[in-house]
Amino acid sequence: MTLWDGRFNQKPDELVAKFSESISFDQRLYAHDIRGSIAHVSMLGRCRIIPEEDAKCIINELNNIRCEIESGTFQFDERYEDIHMNIENALLDRLGDTGAKIHTARSRNDQVATDTRLYIRDEIDQISGLLIHLKSSLVGVAEKYSHVIMPGFTHLQHAQPVLFSHHLLAYVEMLHRDGCRLTDCRKRLNQLPLGSGALAGTSLPINREVVASELKFDSITQNSMDAVSDRDYIIEFLSAASIIMVHMSRLSEDIIYWVSQECSFVELSDTFCTGSSLMPQKKNPDVAELTRGKTGRVYGNLLSVLTMMKGLPLCYNRDMQEDKEPLFDTIDTIKLILSVYSPMIKNIRVDESIMKNAASDPFLMATDLAEWLVSKNVPFRTAHKKVGSLVGYCQAKDISPDTLNLRQLKDLIPECNEDCFSLFDPEKSIASRNVTGATSGEQVRKQIEFWKTELDVNY
Ligand code: ARG
Repeated sequence: MTLWDGRFNQKPDELVAKFSESISFDQRLYAHDIRGSIAHVSMLGRCRIIPEEDAKCIINELNNIRCEIESGTFQFDERYEDIHMNIENALLDRLGDTGAKIHTARSRNDQVATDTRLYIRDEIDQISGLLIHLKSSLVGVAEKYSHVIMPGFTHLQHAQPVLFSHHLLAYVEMLHRDGCRLTDCRKRLNQLPLGSGALAGTSLPINREVVASELKFDSITQNSMDAVSDRDYIIEFLSAASIIMVHMSRLSEDIIYWVSQECSFVELSDTFCTGSSLMPQKKNPDVAELTRGKTGRVYGNLLSVLTMMKGLPLCYNRDMQEDKEPLFDTIDTIKLILSVYSPMIKNIRVDESIMKNAASDPFLMATDLAEWLVSKNVPFRTAHKKVGSLVGYCQAKDISPDTLNLRQLKDLIPECNEDCFSLFDPEKSIASRNVTGATSGEQVRKQIEFWKTELDVNY
């Protein structure tokens, strides 16, 4: 028995049933499907489209079905394709003609769009919470090590000294924008598609506003063909998730580098690492590596939905069932990564002296000298050239610029005086970069305070 028996003379081929089912993965939408159905049916009752008694009876049975699914006693059946038909069939079995009234003024096309919007909305709320957790962990570590100095990199070359806390807070900024992107996506998807029917709406006198407010949608969709056709809200979510993953992957790469023997800035807690089955000394940063690796599948999920959608004529096409596995996989992957990352970050240990040592190479203060020359009225380009030749001179002689005496220094850059020698101190270099957003202790402290209040409010 299928729900479209009326039109067909033959049962579907068993292989076709296997090929086209989605119940094996879309059963995770059960709670949202039931929630949508309850709102729909209670509206049908209130609008006198079906008797209120029948509506009550259906709602009661939908609640029973939810309990059975949650306790694991509900039997899902591949022959009923998807979550929508599995639940509807159970109602038919149990309530007969009354159960047959649930699908009044509704199609699976507007139903699935409603379910996935409700589902993504809830998942966005959870992911936003996990992002806040991770940001708090990063801010906590930034505060704990707020004085620690490290070399900042460009091109993976030591560039200028920075505070380690400044580096961590860079990721807090990124993750904050990621949260904002999810909030934007949530706002745009928070419209009720139900009432769009298969594509053209319905002739029955439904009240879409009531359903929307019951389901906490901000508004209702204005074009039934658009409402059942588009999956841009899924694509937008998958894009926001992919951007989260760029950030998580770059953070992972930084961590993998920091814990390498060459660098040794940071140590991860044993509980977040694994060993090698062969080399007894190994301690590998697997969580960071897997995060970097899983970034590929999250991008892939975005690409697969974009590609699946691009050639589809309006309105609904069965291809669109293929939106679910990429969506679910991205949600699972992101939630797992954010959950494991937060405690891993909280438990990192930092080797202050190795980091400071790496940042103390006087060549890293070359820009400080050029900027000092600017304060003596040397045009920056000229200052850059002069310091460049000082660096070249020192490198050719394999000496460090702070070991020159004043006469040697003046021979190379006549504007120099005694004060120049104090420029080769990384602490001073950092303290001097005190414009808003820069790495000085004062600026970074302000940022730490800002994030602590911001995250407290959002917690
Ligand atoms: N399982 C289907 C999907 O996910 C539900 C919508 C089916 N609609 C249809 N006309 N066959 O897309």
